[in-house]
Amino acid sequence: MEEERYVLRNARALAEDYLRRSVREGDTVIDATMGNGGDTEMLCRLVGEQGHVYAFDVQRQAVERTAERLKAAGLSGRAMLLCAGHETMEAHVEGPVQAVVFNFGWLPGSDHAVTTRCDTSLAAAGAALRLVREGGIVSLCVYPGHEEGARELRLLLDWSAGLPVRRFNVLYHHFINAADSTPGLILIQKNRD
Ligand SMILES: C[S@@+](CC[C@H](N)C(=O)[O-])C[C@H]1O[C@@H](n2cnc3c(N)ncnc32)[C@H](O)[C@@H]1O
Repeated sequence: MEEERYVLRNARALAEDYLRRSVREGDTVIDATMGNGGDTEMLCRLVGEQGHVYAFDVQRQAVERTAERLKAAGLSGRAMLLCAGHETMEAHVEGPVQAVVFNFGWLPGSDHAVTTRCDTSLAAAGAALRLVREGGIVSLCVYPGHEEGARELRLLLDWSAGLPVRRFNVLYHHFINAADSTPGLILIQKNRD
């Protein structure tokens, strides 16, 4: 049967494409924004039985939804779900990890007031760069369709554009013929020394 041809979709799907190419069975990775557990489940499948996923969210509801989702999929043993801010990830994860995945914004289907915030997002992105192994990737999906998201995108773009090119490759995907509010993807790979 002919292999399905590539479809260019959205920032989140692009992030998944890169993760599928980067993460191998047995790897340790971080889902920095657990939410409903979609990314956590995808990462659990990528790391396989021998791998491990650390997942963070500040909302108990997110942890509960993700726990249920993983249980239903038979993947609970591959993940540690932490009800903690991603800015604290270095206190929970020793590293190095192969990938850190951010999907900023609020928990779909819940209070929009509990959204990721510029100061903690930036602190967490810095922590992710320290934890990721050489050759590993940090993906940052940002949603500028609301005020804090727009600020978050400007801040993360300024910060990541200033990273030393010898140490990091930084790529920004944005659908330039779509509305400015369309989500963007910042992808950072730590170079080998
Ligand atoms: C867009 S959702 C994530 C979607 C999720 N990856 C999925 O697949 O369903 C963003 C999540 O970030 C969480 N969040 C907000 N501030 C956070 C923080 N400081 N640390 C970790 N998660 C945070 C929110 O509670 C929300 O659940």
